Parts: sequence; structure tokens; C-alpha cells
Amino acid sequence: MTTAHVVYATITGNNEDVADIIAEKLEDLGVEVTETEISQTDASAFESVDICVVCPYTYDEGSLPEEGLDFYDDLQELDLTGKVFGVAGSGDVFYEEYYNVAVDKFAEAFKKANAVQGSEPVKVNLEPEEDDIEKLDKLAEDLLAKAGK
Ligand SMILES: Cc1cc2nc3c(=O)[nH]c(=O)nc-3n(C[C@H](O)[C@H](O)[C@H](O)COP(=O)(O)O)c2cc1C
Repeated sequence: MTTAHVVYATITGNNEDVADIIAEKLEDLGVEVTETEISQTDASAFESVDICVVCPYTYDEGSLPEEGLDFYDDLQELDLTGKVFGVAGSGDVFYEEYYNVAVDKFAEAFKKANAVQGSEPVKVNLEPEEDDIEKLDKLAEDLLAKAGK
């Protein structure tokens, strides 16, 4: 069975919603999914699954979640060769050039860990709406297809 771990960082709940949507879709597709909050998660948890997902918020002009900084540092040091990764996050377009910067930063961290990108990152403005849910469902499908199991 294909396995996935979805990790989210949230203050007001939007990124937990993003993570829930991805996790539910993966489960519907027959994947065994674990979902956890970033400060409660060791990055090495990704070593034992096929599909790795991070859903981070962005704060303070492009900053990563404070409680996720250790996770972010550790992630880049891992060897995730053969794993498929996806990143999706909720930010706010109000912040213009800083919009969802954490999504791009986590994608780069996964690449440093030698994971394979299974889908284009998905950026959500505030709460996920119908068109966002479609994109997040597609991300889940793409990740599974790339995992090729
Ligand atoms: C002080 C503050 C700074 C923020 N800075 C950014 C930012 O730089 N880029 C961005 O895309 N969103 C920014 N946001 C918006 C949040 O990322 C957005 O509200 C997001 O949906 C919060 O996710 P959460 O509900 O999972 O906590 C900021 C929000 C606050 C309150």
C-alpha cells in the first residue's frame, strides 16, 4: 500500500483545511495517510513514507512558520531519494510579492533532500474555495501517479 504523511502549520486553521483536503483525497485514492501538525513532527518521519506533503502558512513578509523552523532545517538534511513531494499552502494575496513564499521555500527544501516533485505547488488565498479544492484534489492525484505504485 502507498503511504503518505501530510504536515501542516497553522494559526487560524486555513492550512489545516488545506492539509485535510489533500489527506482526504489521498485516502479516497487508497493511500494510507498520516496527518500531523509541524511542531509535533520530526522531519525524519518522511523517511518512512512514499509521499511527503507540507502545508505551511507564510507570515511577516515571507517568513516561515516560527514553530516549523527546526523541521525546515532538518528537512534539508534528509536523504529523501525515491520519495515524491508536494507543497500547498494558504497565504493572502494582500502581501503581493510575499504571497505564499513559504510554499516555495519548502519546495526548495524538498529538492535539497533529493525528493522528486510530484506536482506543481498549489497556492491558496485564505480559505480554500471550490476551485482551490479542485486544485488540491488534482495535486493528490498527481502525487500518487508520480509515486507510481
Ligand atoms: C502579521 C501577518 C503577516 C502575514 N504575512 C503574510 C505574507 O508575508 N505572505 C502571505 O502570503 N500571507 C501572509 N499572511 C496571511 C496568512 O498567511 C494567511 O492569513 C493564511 O491563510 C494563514 O494561514 P492559517 O489559517 O493556516 O494560519 C500574514 C498574516 C498576518 C496576520
